Amino acid sequence: MNIGIIGLGTVGFGVVEILTEQKERLERQFNTDVIIKYGCSLDDVTLPKGIIYTQDYHDIINDDEVDVVVELIGGTTIAKNIILEALNKGKHVVTANKALIAHYGQEIFETAQKNNVKIYYEAAVGGGIPIVVPAKEDLVANEIEKIEGILNGTTNFILTLMETDNLDFNEALTIADGLGYVEADASLDLDGIDAAHKIQILAMNAFERFFDFDKIQTTGIRDVTKKDMDYAKKLGYRIKLIAQAKKLENGIGMDVSPTLISIKDIVANVNQAYNVVEVTCNYLENVIFYGKGAGRYVTASAVVSDIMKTHKQDIWSHDYVCCHNVYPITYSKYYVRCHHPLDDLDYETYFSQNKDHIYITNHIELEDLQRQLQDKTYHLFKVRG
Ligand code: HSE
Repeated sequence: MNIGIIGLGTVGFGVVEILTEQKERLERQFNTDVIIKYGCSLDDVTLPKGIIYTQDYHDIINDDEVDVVVELIGGTTIAKNIILEALNKGKHVVTANKALIAHYGQEIFETAQKNNVKIYYEAAVGGGIPIVVPAKEDLVANEIEKIEGILNGTTNFILTLMETDNLDFNEALTIADGLGYVEADASLDLDGIDAAHKIQILAMNAFERFFDFDKIQTTGIRDVTKKDMDYAKKLGYRIKLIAQAKKLENGIGMDVSPTLISIKDIVANVNQAYNVVEVTCNYLENVIFYGKGAGRYVTASAVVSDIMKTHKQDIWSHDYVCCHNVYPITYSKYYVRCHHPLDDLDYETYFSQNKDHIYITNHIELEDLQRQLQDKTYHLFKVRG
């Protein structure tokens, strides 16, 4: 098997290292040579002996000996060209590019199918956690009802720091940024877009439909205050950025929003930059995938597994139907912080502190709740349960 790696950043070098270190075992296990023929990057890099360095990805795509192209440059412009050109040249493709799969999955999968080659993207969701393929292949006996979890490590790190170190959002963000957690475009993390890319990918496989990414209602963590975290804690909850996709009566609901989770719930105890995905289905009931969602070796582990998977038969294709409607999930319990008491509110828990009135409502439609809150200033988050 000849491999060409395009993009030699943190993850790219992790892939080179793992494939070099594990070469003998992988060759034995898969009964094939495992050769990194090319490494492609615009930066000058030093590669282990035997790997051809190029700055032009066409060298890889036009080489008939290359079987697998690994795209690790990210973004949705050049990366898209690379992937489509590679597939059209009859090469298998492995990518960690969540934005690209979320936005252009349909075109990419159709191109792969037309050329009878494979496209794998396990590293796009949950870093190294095996979730994309397991949710598709290993749960195939089940109908999936719901997928829910923490899919963005950066925001989870920031929320954890706000709680444990008593910091406000901006202070925690500065620390996360200093540690290199935050994406170059911080909005991807902070506004929930990265988590939306990931839940869209999981939902696509679980529900066998392509969804319109722009219809996913996405709220990030910029409005989560230390004060709300403290009030939530007093009530036995933690605030987490939750991405969810589930079957509703009228179709598929999907959203990303800061959500209060009971401290007794496993998901509330997933801290730092860790990710968790909980899948609810009809026979297996609940299954939880937990682990590190980012990092050099963590992500490279998923990429290398995908590379090796191109060498064996698989049971799944991407011939999904297109679904233009994605609905927000609005029927929920809500946390409300308001400066006025809310006399008509149907609530489960209430307390008042300083000038704040804090409620956990019973299940209610968001529209009905907002009607009751009309002309009041309030803070509102979903509550799981
Ligand atoms: N920015 C992403 C995160 C990186 O924080 O989870 C991994 O996809």
